[in-house]
Amino acid sequence: MPNGQKEQFPVPKHIAIIMDGNGRWAQKRGLPRNAGHRQGAKVLENICDYCQKIGVRYVTAYAFSTENWKRPQAEVDTIMDLLRNYLKEASKQTRRNVRLLFLGDRTPLAGDIRQLMDQAERESAGNTGITVCMAINYGGRAEIVHSARSLARLAAQGRLDPDRIDESLFAQYLYTKEMPSPDLLIRPSGELRISNFLLWQLAYTEFVFMDVLWPDFTPSHLDQAIAQYAKRNRRFGGI
Ligand code: FPP
Repeated sequence: MPNGQKEQFPVPKHIAIIMDGNGRWAQKRGLPRNAGHRQGAKVLENICDYCQKIGVRYVTAYAFSTENWKRPQAEVDTIMDLLRNYLKEASKQTRRNVRLLFLGDRTPLAGDIRQLMDQAERESAGNTGITVCMAINYGGRAEIVHSARSLARLAAQGRLDPDRIDESLFAQYLYTKEMPSPDLLIRPSGELRISNFLLWQLAYTEFVFMDVLWPDFTPSHLDQAIAQYAKRNRRFGGI
């Protein structure tokens, strides 16, 4: 942590990250795209450790979108293997007091991965340190549809009066029901879009887009993003 940063900048409580640029990073080095994902997974662990050190309470990382199934099978397999390894080593996180959560539709994932996810969530549920939340087979629109469908089902069964549906009830049916909205979204790699990530939750989030590729992202880049965030005047629609 840079000297005195904690005193100087308000640390965001929740940081969301779109881990972009893995393919380009590998390509630049004449490596297969998968090498970029491997490096990206290491960087994620490093950045989560750093976030925990500086007092960030939640990190949500976009690891695999509902659209990523369109990639070549070998690339999908590599990302799933990285997830598998991460989950097999989840006890390492648990020992560091990290709580693990996963967002997204788990139905199409391999059975062993789903079991490991359930286990990691269960075993880390009581941890009081940082919450690391991984979005896997996640899509913001799909999440909103999922919430709407759950509420519609309750209404059709006569168990919910549609007039009782407000923003707070709707949010209780999103995958992120246990979490506050992100304060800061970081997207490296130079792309300027949110790619179907946390559409509901990002309503008042501050965005920082950076030119670095995710596998090159360091704690110093995170400090720079937090410094930008600290200069923003968040009004949440007020004046
Ligand atoms: C986007 O970069 C990145 C992804 C689609 C995958 C991100 C996944 C990881 C970093 C590994 C996940 C880690 C764990 C522990 C599950 P891109 O491939 O679209 O990059 P490009 O735009 O340069 O091609």
